[in-house]
Amino acid sequence: MRTPVIAANWKMHKTLSETAGFVKEFLPLVRDLDGVEMVICPPFTLLGAAGWALADAKGKVGLGAQNMYKEVQGAFTGEVSGPMLKDVGCGYVILGHSERRAIFGESDELVGEKVRVAYTHGLIPILCVGETLQEREAGQTDAVNRRQLLAGVAGITPEQARSLVVAYEPVWAIGTGRNCNTTDAQATIAAIRTVLAEKFGQEVADAVRIQYGGSVKPNNIADYMAQPDIDGALVGGASLEAASFAAICKAGK
Ligand code: 13P
Repeated sequence: MRTPVIAANWKMHKTLSETAGFVKEFLPLVRDLDGVEMVICPPFTLLGAAGWALADAKGKVGLGAQNMYKEVQGAFTGEVSGPMLKDVGCGYVILGHSERRAIFGESDELVGEKVRVAYTHGLIPILCVGETLQEREAGQTDAVNRRQLLAGVAGITPEQARSLVVAYEPVWAIGTGRNCNTTDAQATIAAIRTVLAEKFGQEVADAVRIQYGGSVKPNNIADYMAQPDIDGALVGGASLEAASFAAICKAGK
């Protein structure tokens, strides 16, 4: 039985005081919530403060970063390493988000290197895959996800893969209010699980949590969670308000 994981990707939003306010409002709303793992992924500048604020809820609400570099330390101006994320209390790291791929030019191979490195530092990757509208209209959805996924998990062991979180985020559904219909999301996520089964065996594939992401809101999360292969969500805009993210976590149980 897979425990769903609902993660908040705050992207480039919030200040220290807004983060403190969010956590103060959020924790009481989810205090009695069991059976779902919640993760908050703020910008790097807020990881320390968010980690401290969430310390009371350790085990219930985890901390994740939105990116990391593949090296441990050195002359890499502007980058943050896996050990640094671990040091500040992260358990998760989002890797290969479509915004990193499209705006910052991250290749499938670089994402794969980062995934391998994340495991060596005890971080669980949330590996993002997903097709653009153009690729979808060209009938390439499953092929694009397969390519991104296989490059992303190249070189990790079946034992590592077991704890992986994959986020299927169709690029055209991100921040548009145009969420993928649940039937298509289920079919695409089932296809992603099949690729994992080919690579790591069915038993490992059955253990991997696969999220849907793209315009998830309190009023549509339950439909996704009702699908057999969808194990949670990666939430952008609707994770910025405590009440909204708490409502998603509750419905995501
Ligand atoms: P939205 O929920 O704002 O569509 O963003 C999704 C996303 O990119 C999460 O990583």
